[in-house]
Amino acid sequence: MCGIIGIITNKKRNLVPELISSLRNLEYRGHDSTGIAVIDGNTLKRIRRVGAPSDVLEEGEVSRELGIELRPFSIGIGHNRWATHGKPSERNAHPHVDCENKIAIVHNGTILNYEILKKALMLEGHVFSSDTDTEVVAHLIEQGIKDGKSFLDAFLESITLLEGSFGLAVCSVDSPDRILIAKRGSPLSFGIGKDSLVVASSANAILPHTNTFITLEDGEYAELVSENDGVRYSIGNFVDKSIDIAKNPTVIENFSLDELSKGEYGSFMEKEVHEQPSVLRTTILGRYDTKAGDAVLGGLIDYEDKLATAKQILTVACGTAHNASQVGGVLIETLAGIPVRSEIASEFRYKKIPLSPKRVVLFAVSQSGETADTLESVKEAKRKGYETFGIVNVVGSSIAKMVDAGVYTRAGIEIGVASTKAFISQLGIFYLLALKLARERGMTAPEGQDFISELEEMPEHIQKVLQNIEEQIRDYAKKCVAQNIQTINFLGRGIHVPVSNEAALKFKELTYIEAGSYPLGELKHGPMAIIDEKTLSVVLMPKDEVFALSKNSIEQIRSKGGDLLIITDVEGAKELEGSGLNLLVIPTLKNPLFYPLIEIVPLQLFAYYYSRELGHNVDKPRNLAKSVTVE
Ligand code: M6R
Repeated sequence: MCGIIGIITNKKRNLVPELISSLRNLEYRGHDSTGIAVIDGNTLKRIRRVGAPSDVLEEGEVSRELGIELRPFSIGIGHNRWATHGKPSERNAHPHVDCENKIAIVHNGTILNYEILKKALMLEGHVFSSDTDTEVVAHLIEQGIKDGKSFLDAFLESITLLEGSFGLAVCSVDSPDRILIAKRGSPLSFGIGKDSLVVASSANAILPHTNTFITLEDGEYAELVSENDGVRYSIGNFVDKSIDIAKNPTVIENFSLDELSKGEYGSFMEKEVHEQPSVLRTTILGRYDTKAGDAVLGGLIDYEDKLATAKQILTVACGTAHNASQVGGVLIETLAGIPVRSEIASEFRYKKIPLSPKRVVLFAVSQSGETADTLESVKEAKRKGYETFGIVNVVGSSIAKMVDAGVYTRAGIEIGVASTKAFISQLGIFYLLALKLARERGMTAPEGQDFISELEEMPEHIQKVLQNIEEQIRDYAKKCVAQNIQTINFLGRGIHVPVSNEAALKFKELTYIEAGSYPLGELKHGPMAIIDEKTLSVVLMPKDEVFALSKNSIEQIRSKGGDLLIITDVEGAKELEGSGLNLLVIPTLKNPLFYPLIEIVPLQLFAYYYSRELGHNVDKPRNLAKSVTVE
């Protein structure tokens, strides 16, 4: 939900190339419009465009247009927008400025009381030039300075007037040695280099500059200052008014810039799908004890008693993370016999759940660790007295910090808006968690050992699926596009239901075509009415205990003239031989509970190739952003 960048340096140079490349690294957060502002002497210069930075910002051209091609300077800020207030347009693109074009601001979040503030400012004579909520902040600061306050005091006073969420970076031509930043509810970090400080709404944009950064907490602000002999920063809190807060920087070791590039692939999504075998290996690495046949989840070690005595598990998450949680729910209920309730985070907050927090533990699942709905659910759960745990990918993210304890999924940086490798890594953690809970509740060590050895084999199976079916699925997607399929449903039973949900989500977000997902047995209770020769039903039915029932259901679909794609395993394929059905065959697994890890792969690729065939941008589907930091 919008990406912010700001660079301040004491080694003056043309910062435009660095600003643009950072904005490109932040495109996944929003890409409907973009802009840059720099301080050139005592002039604030700005450029704004509709579109994604990689399409509409070219370094040489932007530098020329700003008139700074050969002139070094020391401050620049930039923004990628995901529109909330005001449609995507040049007029609404950030940075926004005050009446005199002296103060520039970039913002991620939503100012809820902007209309009241705007009215009051207009009465003071301020003239607004956008439809955004953000612009009020530039005018509030301008007014504060007019009233005799310093830049910093005007900034602090302004942000205390704001309701809603913000990650902000502001610069002013009258204070050309500093960028002021503040955070409430939207992520914000700054990197500490030798001669530069870099603020951004995600570490992705900081890591190419430095691997050392500080993440602000809600209520914190910082002054990033450039001086003759280097750069310095100071952190304060605008709520309790404390100043000079000491914080230990986070240092990311072993980071490779390759994580931020597409490498040999044409898109980030394609790369991330192909990374899944190694991601799963990394997720589970060192997190089980083969001899004991048990999982070892270091992050939860202090809470083992709590887990051992838990009578119920609650999960809260959104989108793909919710689908992973539902798979996790089936695993935990089947293996450990603990009831699991998987809640969509945006609903959980407002629900009256009749569960006492005693003996109930809550897992918040999130790739970004910044999703507002999930974060607010954790806050609400804590307020109600639940023990909260996280299954999170981004280290040091807001959810990771807020929960009592947790496990990182180690998926690496996921840039494609459509989540793929993060899903696999979340599943990886749920397999381990289910094992841990089951071992505490009667699963024997040999059973645990068998489970681990199967889990260890899964990366290899995913690899095989990628190798064996990619071409087939690409051709099939092409055929479906040519056939002009109007309706598509993803179907399965048991553990395959949440995988069908995830497949439908991938398909919708990438192709912009409505897709349904149902438990297969539910079809006859209503959705069957839509089946005709223009519908495609994709059925997940490897040979497990519900295979015979599924066979029955697909015949019902066939009899109504509907097209079918069956995803089954080698054994299932033998049974379906001669049926004339389209089969996509995945390996046979000893333990059917592991099928989600391999059956989702062809479905990710199906959505990917279908979308490409339609000419869509697979990494940046329309209307979506990677990290949804508004409620
Ligand atoms: O960062 P999170 O895992 O909390 O994000 C939750 C959803 O917004 C996310 O999973 C979304 O559904 C995916 N990008 C869809 O592919």
